[in-house]
Amino acid sequence: MGGYPLKTEIKENQRTKHLPFSRTLLERVRRQSELGVPEIFPGLEGSGVSGISTGRYVNEESFLKEKELFHRRPFLVGFREKVSRTGDCISANFLDRDWILLRDEKNDLKGFENACLHRGTRLISGADTKSIRKIVCPYHSWTYDFDGELLTGGCKVGNNKLREIPLIEIAGMIFAGKTSEILNQINPIRNELDEYNLDSYVPFALLKEEGEYNWKVGVEIFLETYHIATLHRNSVAAVVEKNSSVYDPIGEHARILIPNRTYKAAETPSRKDLIITYFIFPSTILVLFRDHFGIIQFQPLSPSKTRCIRAVLIPEKPKTDRMIRFWEGNRDFFFRTTSEDLELAPEIHAGIRQRERIYPSSWEPGIFHFHRSLENAE
Ligand code: FES
Ligand SMILES: [Fe+2]
Repeated sequence: MGGYPLKTEIKENQRTKHLPFSRTLLERVRRQSELGVPEIFPGLEGSGVSGISTGRYVNEESFLKEKELFHRRPFLVGFREKVSRTGDCISANFLDRDWILLRDEKNDLKGFENACLHRGTRLISGADTKSIRKIVCPYHSWTYDFDGELLTGGCKVGNNKLREIPLIEIAGMIFAGKTSEILNQINPIRNELDEYNLDSYVPFALLKEEGEYNWKVGVEIFLETYHIATLHRNSVAAVVEKNSSVYDPIGEHARILIPNRTYKAAETPSRKDLIITYFIFPSTILVLFRDHFGIIQFQPLSPSKTRCIRAVLIPEKPKTDRMIRFWEGNRDFFFRTTSEDLELAPEIHAGIRQRERIYPSSWEPGIFHFHRSLENAE
């Protein structure tokens, strides 16, 4: 399983005009597009021989350990467009945590624990954006300003400030982390995403579903392309070059480059010639298409139950019916193809439960990288 570089170095002078990848990496993609199969990462041949124990997909103990891990990693909690103007406020949740996200007078984004200091009532509810001047508790009207300071006089509490959670905005998305050190873990991906100028992107469609499978089963489907010719034979297979891909780890995260059929002939490949996937450890996947991108995030609910959130982000709010129809077409394609993956997840999970071990092949380097990251996660 060893042999992964911790970071792929991109030297400034190696950068291509259109894509934030080194020439070496683009050449690796070209080679795979000619071979039509996923790249076998050097040193990985034969790694699948001993397989992966299936206990970690079904045990309560593994599940609780992984749930703890989620609290030590950044997670996606919302979209910037929903809190873009001063006073905009939404509630957000992730696993068992509830947060308030709001835009303050200085246009800074703030995140607070969504619980009143008095008797704990949730302060902001519902999915829609509210426009507020103060945070007012619906139970006894204790009132807080945009710094989370309690303004109501005469109230005795241990601490009169709502607990704050650090947030960052990346490509129209809002990520939260318990501490700013935790948020820094996203930096390698953040720096690369900055190169695509996605900051003004807005959500066009959002889906939340729960399914009967372990969260890792969901993530793993998006970490390998070996299944494209089979599972996506009536969708993505028409666009991409067979099962080709390069899985390129960035610490715990990764980029997965999937060449389209146009890649081979392109002298200088650009966004239109490949699908760029970023895996943000432990459970967020971004899929960059030529002019929009999709998000898939998994939240563990129990060893065999997972919530999956999918979203499509586009460059700006569509202004005409024609544009709406255009983005609806892209949305349907993204949801249809990812549904092909997600509908299989309970089937994979059901089979995993029957077995003691499973045997990913060397054509699925992402699975080994993911499990190694989980084993080593601090
Ligand atoms: S619980 Fe919030 S004011 Fe009483
Ligand atoms: Fe897939």
